[in-house]
Amino acid sequence: MPDTIVFGATGFIGRPLVRELLARGHHVAAAVRDARTSGDRLTAWLADHHTDTTHLTIVEADITTEHLGIPPDTLAGIRDVYNTAGRYAFGLTAAEAKAANVTGARHVVQWAAARPNLRRLVHISGYRVSGADSPPPDYRKLGAYEASKIEGDAVVRTRARELGVPLTIANPSTVIGEGQYIGLATMVADLWHGRLPALPGGRDVFVPVVTLDHLVQVLANIPEHEATAGQAYWILDDTTPNLPDLIRHIADHLGVKAPKRSIPVGLLRRLPRALTGADPETLSFLSTDRYPTAAANAFAKATGVRIPAVTDALNDWADHLVATRFGTVPEPREETRRVPVHDRAPGPDEPLR
Ligand SMILES: NC(=O)c1ccc[n+]([C@@H]2O[C@H](COP(=O)([O-])OP(=O)(O)OC[C@H]3O[C@@H](n4cnc5c(N)ncnc54)[C@H](OP(=O)(O)O)[C@@H]3O)[C@@H](O)[C@H]2O)c1
Repeated sequence: MPDTIVFGATGFIGRPLVRELLARGHHVAAAVRDARTSGDRLTAWLADHHTDTTHLTIVEADITTEHLGIPPDTLAGIRDVYNTAGRYAFGLTAAEAKAANVTGARHVVQWAAARPNLRRLVHISGYRVSGADSPPPDYRKLGAYEASKIEGDAVVRTRARELGVPLTIANPSTVIGEGQYIGLATMVADLWHGRLPALPGGRDVFVPVVTLDHLVQVLANIPEHEATAGQAYWILDDTTPNLPDLIRHIADHLGVKAPKRSIPVGLLRRLPRALTGADPETLSFLSTDRYPTAAANAFAKATGVRIPAVTDALNDWADHLVATRFGTVPEPREETRRVPVHDRAPGPDEPLR
């Protein structure tokens, strides 16, 4: 009988979380929207990643529907509920973003509240949420994705409080790893293709990253520790270089030229998109803000989470991005993944091998 459920189990964060939880001996219910299509994709991914799926159960769920489409009186043994489901994309309408990231997130809280053996709900928010009760976000100004994550965070915390659900919120920054192709990845794509004319923002712009493995280990550890209930953890690597240095580092690693000039964020906002190539929704991420990471760092340290040097992690991710042509060709098989980029990836103007 499953003891743990992961919503969004086919996602970039959900699938390695399922893998980690299975490896730790949990019986995991992987909630997918369609067992035949996305369920098969997940089991194929797990097989490719040498995962023992004896204790995996695939269940169908759509978080936009009130009871998630899960038959009542099933999954009574669930102790831990992870919500990694959501719409992570730019260019969504407010209605599209809200359906999963606000209404869907609330439905998951309500479903968790009805579990007789609930130990913890872990909800994935985002690092640009305030974590405090604040006025409703401005969807026009922030863009639908970021605004829906801020609203969703508040809704989840309020509903959990009302229903007495033991909640932990994870606020990861840009997660880097195999399968992350949006946000910062598009900037790396522009750099690789020689389409990044200038560094966006000033020298203090900080776009922190965290590796997928780091995040997944922390997520898997959270319910095991009672003191994490009621906490929000900003999970990101404080040692991430500021954005201009990060871009220069990746350019050096990939053997391409980094732009010498920079464009202030204020000017980027005013210039037409056709000129800058920048999605206006991503501009609010170009911030000099720093984040309250002390609690998450202490928890990661206390629980022995392995955190690689951020520069090595950026190199591995950049290699992966190039090797997969930024997500347009299949990921290399596990055995071939750690080959340095220059040994396996074609240059920007070369045909794919
Ligand atoms: N990736 C990052 O860098 C990052 C950083 C901070 C926070 N986050 C947050 O982490 C969460 C997961 O992100 P991700 O990168 O893993 O996204 P992803 O790869 O797009 O995965 C999203 C998952 O949500 C599922 N989903 C979407 N709508 C659903 C619905 N109505 N009902 C049930 N499942 C639904 C998708 O299922 P299908 O396969 O059926 O589409 C997929 O499994 C999001 O809330 C995102 O905001 C991500």
